[in-house]
Amino acid sequence: EATTRPRGPGGPMPAANLPEDCNTLERCCMPKPYTGTPGIRQFEYEPNLPIRVRRPAHLLTKKEIARLEKGYKLMRALPDTDPRSLLNQMNLHCLYCDNGLYFKGADYPLEVHNGWFFLPWHRMFLYFHERILGELLGDDTFALPYWNWDNPEATEPLPNAIPSFYWNPNSSLYDPNRNICSRPPFIVDLDSIGGCTNKTADFLRVQNTRLQYTQMVLGGDTPALFYGMPYRLGDFGGGGPGTFEDQPHGTIHAWVGDPNAEAPFRPFDDMGNFGRSAFDPVFYAHHANVDRLWCLWTHLRGGKRTYPMDSDFVTSQFSFYDHKGNLVKMNVSQTLDTDLLRYKFEDSPTPWETNGV
Ligand code: C2O
Repeated sequence: EATTRPRGPGGPMPAANLPEDCNTLERCCMPKPYTGTPGIRQFEYEPNLPIRVRRPAHLLTKKEIARLEKGYKLMRALPDTDPRSLLNQMNLHCLYCDNGLYFKGADYPLEVHNGWFFLPWHRMFLYFHERILGELLGDDTFALPYWNWDNPEATEPLPNAIPSFYWNPNSSLYDPNRNICSRPPFIVDLDSIGGCTNKTADFLRVQNTRLQYTQMVLGGDTPALFYGMPYRLGDFGGGGPGTFEDQPHGTIHAWVGDPNAEAPFRPFDDMGNFGRSAFDPVFYAHHANVDRLWCLWTHLRGGKRTYPMDSDFVTSQFSFYDHKGNLVKMNVSQTLDTDLLRYKFEDSPTPWETNGV
């Protein structure tokens, strides 16, 4: 029997009225805006901000590591009544994908994964997350580092591992719910199904570069292939991920989460489950690399069309809490130029671009 995905009325996603649109039976509802400004303001660019430079995590200086640790320490210390706390950052991610958010009258919860909102929604999420950390640090030059997992030459302390400073149990960057086989010296497995593997380091390096080439270059040759299926108001779940979303993005989540996490956690918490993944600080370094690879993909297009030309895509809006804890809504069209968002990525080698050809 053929089954089709239930569709809603269609149209762009309207900005959710947080926290009121949350289904309170779920566990990831958010507190009221911290500073209590009524209404949701429309996001505007801030051209006077300094440019924030996102650097490869394995090249961070001692000072930059200390700043990052301080930021997460402060974020963890915020009370749960503050929507900017790390717990509430986790909840916000959960809200947008774990059956938490229903628009009035909608039959199905909002889902930002498995479709064309994956890239822009996470760019928004990281943007506000980074600005919150900058606010807590009193430093508007603060930028998230990126975990450079697509670069086999990234060495700190070993190629392609999670940088070691995320593994110091006394650090705010540490998360106890991780796969023991995602700890250095283990190399990232972009084709992981979670847990440990007996693939050799040499095998992994070749496999990773091939996979990255396939998803980024060969398979993602059009915006539709790279971004994924349309998702319109009221649809049941995402229609299908772009070439990049499941692999390597999703496989890395599975690789980092602890397959043996015990109750009250679920197997593959934290990184391997939508509900808890954004509680692990490495989530943000992972997604900074996803965001960087989206930028690189755009450059590889060499002037060809770089996003789906559909008004339901570009006019969709999502709500977030800004660096002051106020609600703000952002249009997908406002995510498409990182220069206007005042950040950029330090370059790093991309051997996968040609796959050695
Ligand atoms: Cu919302 Cu890496 O997932």
